[in-house]
Amino acid sequence: MSSKTLFVSFEGIEGSGKSTQISLLQKHYQAQGRSVLSTREPGGTKLGERMRALFTQEEKMSDRCEFLLVSAARAQHVQELLLPSMGKYDLILCDRYMDSSVAYQSAGRDLDVDTVHQINAFATQGLVPDLTIFLDIPVELSLERVDQRQSGNKDRFEKQDQRFHEKVRQGYQDLCKKQSDRIKEFDGTQDSTLLSQQLIQSIDRKASW
Ligand code: TYD
Repeated sequence: MSSKTLFVSFEGIEGSGKSTQISLLQKHYQAQGRSVLSTREPGGTKLGERMRALFTQEEKMSDRCEFLLVSAARAQHVQELLLPSMGKYDLILCDRYMDSSVAYQSAGRDLDVDTVHQINAFATQGLVPDLTIFLDIPVELSLERVDQRQSGNKDRFEKQDQRFHEKVRQGYQDLCKKQSDRIKEFDGTQDSTLLSQQLIQSIDRKASW
């Protein structure tokens, strides 16, 4: 039982290495005897995972429907898993959270940014990560990595063109500048062990345990 849970979210474009880093960090902190919850968005709950399948696969979806669907999954995730987990774990590692909607649905799909912030605040009940790790990689590398791992089986987002991914990346970079206290940018092109060491330093600095 931990009284102070550190809530860390991970952001970046496709293939930025979030899942690799989350599993390295989970191993590192568990080996130190820390309790770690690893979760993701959209998803993290049974209902959220069902919404995720629709969200990533359903071809005919309007931009507003896309945003409301991912927000619905987020609302469920916060209510059912994240809020009850506060105080139960030392560390929560969340693969994507509210900033994904600012980058993908606002910067990428051109939805109004203030509306995205308002609906994010509603869905999250104001639960903001203590630290957000943004793994930045160039779009060319992202497209290469996605091609290598999923040729022929791409989801709706992986099928988007280079321009869309450039807008999403720019959205993240802008957000990082605006919220530099919370969101820390890292070079996602570097060796994954070196990167993991940098992330550990950054998390250790924030942790109060
Ligand atoms: P991701 O978990 O990164 O997929 P994978 O592990 O298969 O690479 O995320 C699935 C997709 O959902 C990703 O392309 C980004 C998109 N997404 C949004 O557009 N908005 C959001 O708020 C979230 C959480 C995800």
